[in-house]
Amino acid sequence: MVKIVLNADVKKGKINKNIYGHFSEHLGRCIYEGLWVGEDSEIPNIKGFRTDVVEALKKMKIPVLRWPGGCFADEYHWVDGIGPKENRPCMVNTHWGGVVENNHFGTHEFLELCEMLEAEPYICGNVGSGTVHEMQQWVEYMTFDGKSPMADLRRANGKDEPWSVKYFGVGNENWGCGGNMTAEFYADQYKRYATYVRNFGENKIYKIAGGASVDDYHWTEVLMKEAGKQMDGLSIHYYTRISKDWSEQGSATEFNENHWFSVMQNALFTEELVARHSNIMDKYDSEKKVGMIVDEWGTWFAVEPGTNPGFLYQQNTMRDALVAGIHLNIFNNHCDRVQMANIAQMVNVLQAVILTEGKNMILTPTYHVFDMYKVHQDAELLSMDFESPEYTYNGEKVPQLSASSSVDSEGRIHVTLCNLNPSEDMNIDIDLRGITAKSSTGEIITSSTMNAKNTFEEANNVTIKKFEGVRLENNHISGIIPSKAVVMLEIV
Ligand code: AHR
Repeated sequence: MVKIVLNADVKKGKINKNIYGHFSEHLGRCIYEGLWVGEDSEIPNIKGFRTDVVEALKKMKIPVLRWPGGCFADEYHWVDGIGPKENRPCMVNTHWGGVVENNHFGTHEFLELCEMLEAEPYICGNVGSGTVHEMQQWVEYMTFDGKSPMADLRRANGKDEPWSVKYFGVGNENWGCGGNMTAEFYADQYKRYATYVRNFGENKIYKIAGGASVDDYHWTEVLMKEAGKQMDGLSIHYYTRISKDWSEQGSATEFNENHWFSVMQNALFTEELVARHSNIMDKYDSEKKVGMIVDEWGTWFAVEPGTNPGFLYQQNTMRDALVAGIHLNIFNNHCDRVQMANIAQMVNVLQAVILTEGKNMILTPTYHVFDMYKVHQDAELLSMDFESPEYTYNGEKVPQLSASSSVDSEGRIHVTLCNLNPSEDMNIDIDLRGITAKSSTGEIITSSTMNAKNTFEEANNVTIKKFEGVRLENNHISGIIPSKAVVMLEIV
């Protein structure tokens, strides 16, 4: 029996809704086919954007969307993506499959999509191969209200009023695809570029510096020391894989408990990463003014057989649902420092929430986790105490339970719980303190097999169901959380 104490009257800070953010790169079939089909497509669309995908994303309440990359961002020249589509030059997408990018989806299209989704745009600028001038002009083009060459160009392209763009990233993975820089060199470059990312009128930009790869704590140390005062956010990237060795990719759908276990272990490593990077940030920023922005996270497995290796198209199973649940619990629990997170990537790439095939669309198990966890957006984190039992495999151990809880503005309490063990149920008892609970309801995502997935033929194998495995009695919620399950309880 896992005894959990939930202190409903001990609030630990606001869970920024942007923790539930997404990422869409010009990579494979994420933008083209996944989001954008063009106005002349036979696939139902609103001004070129897929109606089915837009509707599904709105239901999930996507708060913020990062674009145009990723590695693509540091070779993207925004001027190529504005004006009449037939005049936009093509480029080669060298990172992702060497395909031709026709630039039909550019700044206007992205910002219109964000408006449709009611999501904040998070634009990533080009440091690796772009100039300071180019970055400065992009911000002016999007956000300047007065008379200037860039604002006039925007008007000539049909947009009179400036957009509001809050989040701007100054480069991506500048230790790698974004220019192969050292931390020291990038810190100087960051300051130089960021100086010209101007606030025009009411538009106040939250500037995000490109952050560390995984456990490169030196990178965080240098950036905080040298440029901490000039940034609002500092990113980190971490992908969950079957192994630390990039040559071992593993199938997204065909795996045994060995790979289930290593993926759980690697997902839980996020806790250590967030804690250690946070400690370094605390050293230079004890008031926690600089947000940790986990702007790429999620699973990375081998591509689906027969698909372009450069397109990173993978299926999504119950295992991915657990990975999502674990990460979101970790980010919630670190909401004092984590101010945004963006799962990679939204449609048809890596741990996608949506997959498309022609005119068909399916929602993945990961989608359902985001849909279920949306109750935490902008809610207050609550204090919870428990000692998790261990899930042991082959002599190695991880905690079996991952959890977080919050109270929303209407006073509803939500508890999200993941049982990581693929074959053992978990008996729980939640001692509710600081409230007198009147009722509780639940939802669950689970499956009979570890690798259950949704397909275009069977779209609802893994989905949200009503959960009645626990009951409320004497201010305690007790019962059984089934193996390999993600559960959400609502208590009023
Ligand atoms: O999400 C795929 C790629 O992973 C991104 O382009 C890059 O930033 C990261 O290495």
